[in-house]
Amino acid sequence: MTELLKVNNLVTQFKTESGIVKAVNDVSYYLNELEIIGLVGESGCGKSVSQLSVMQLINAPGEITGGEVIFEGKNILKYRPHSPQMRAIRGARIAMIFQEPMTSLNPVLTIGQQLTEMLVLHLNMNPEAARKRAIELLGMVGIPAAERRIDDYPHNFSGGMRQRVMIAMGLSCNPRILIADEPTTALDVTTQAQLLEMMKDMVEHFRASLIIVTHNLGVVARYAKRIYIMYAGRIVESGTTKDIFSKPRHPYTMGLLKCIPRLDEEEGRKLVPIEGLPPNLINMPPTCAFLPRCSWKIDRCYKEPWPEITTVGDNHYIRCYADTSDVKNEPEKQ
Ligand SMILES: Nc1ncnc2c1ncn2[C@@H]1O[C@H](COP(=O)(O)OP(=O)(O)OP(=O)(O)O)[C@@H](O)[C@H]1O
Ligand SMILES: [Mg+2]
Repeated sequence: MTELLKVNNLVTQFKTESGIVKAVNDVSYYLNELEIIGLVGESGCGKSVSQLSVMQLINAPGEITGGEVIFEGKNILKYRPHSPQMRAIRGARIAMIFQEPMTSLNPVLTIGQQLTEMLVLHLNMNPEAARKRAIELLGMVGIPAAERRIDDYPHNFSGGMRQRVMIAMGLSCNPRILIADEPTTALDVTTQAQLLEMMKDMVEHFRASLIIVTHNLGVVARYAKRIYIMYAGRIVESGTTKDIFSKPRHPYTMGLLKCIPRLDEEEGRKLVPIEGLPPNLINMPPTCAFLPRCSWKIDRCYKEPWPEITTVGDNHYIRCYADTSDVKNEPEKQ
């Protein structure tokens, strides 16, 4: 399988008055051609910043201070954010659906103006062909009466329909990679499911790879082939979706699994939130940041810095000192 994107040891920080926020700390992951992966973690753990870093969309006081982003064999962090090379990649070769819908959509321009602009700019289409293609794209993502709706403004669309428009926009230039940052968070469960299904069909049709960024493991369970679990700026576990669900090895992953309803489980299981809060990313101690919330902690966790990544199975990695090897689809410690 061909590797499309490889992020190596990425570090992104924000210099604030209260100190340095280590939002992304030594993050590495890869994405293959035609693959769907999930990036999962609680609010504030660095999911969005890691993806915005790949796109070089980090503004002051933020800075990418280390690492590589290898896209199609080249380290694209070597390009300046506003260089022609980066402009040709951003939005066209790697597209992103932003968490904040109004970052993706300009409220004072019609959907048609925004979609055709991309097609004219990146694919050199003439305005007439671009409009025709834009209508086609809106139809493909399930916007009814697309030839009329194309002249509406973003506020004329419901939340679910706006997400559909953003997917159309994201895929309009035939990107190799689509990054969808919390694409369904604000939507009801039925709309969420429809949207994810449609997004999967669309990336398949466009032969793009997809990164689904979410705080909800349940959202990626059905679609992602592999999952990266992020905590306090770091990837703490990664593996196939099957392994993450059936034999989670990091206590944080086990905690996340306890928070989601499962269809294959006995009745009456309670959903248990992970106690405590994620740490403040300023002035973090050198020890594992999950330590204060962890029920598996051992002496070593207090004495040594955050563990390096270790292999615990085929394509299965964790950052943890505890021996969790007996855990099988049972988040509760016996
Ligand atoms: N412009 C900024 N200035 C200072 N700190 C920032 C800035 N942008 C992000 N951060 C910090 O970086 C950390 C990671 O933020 P990020 O937005 O990546 O989290 P996230 O995992 O996407 O959370 P959510 O699920 O809420 O979207 C947070 O602690 C956040 O406060
Ligand atoms: Mg985010």
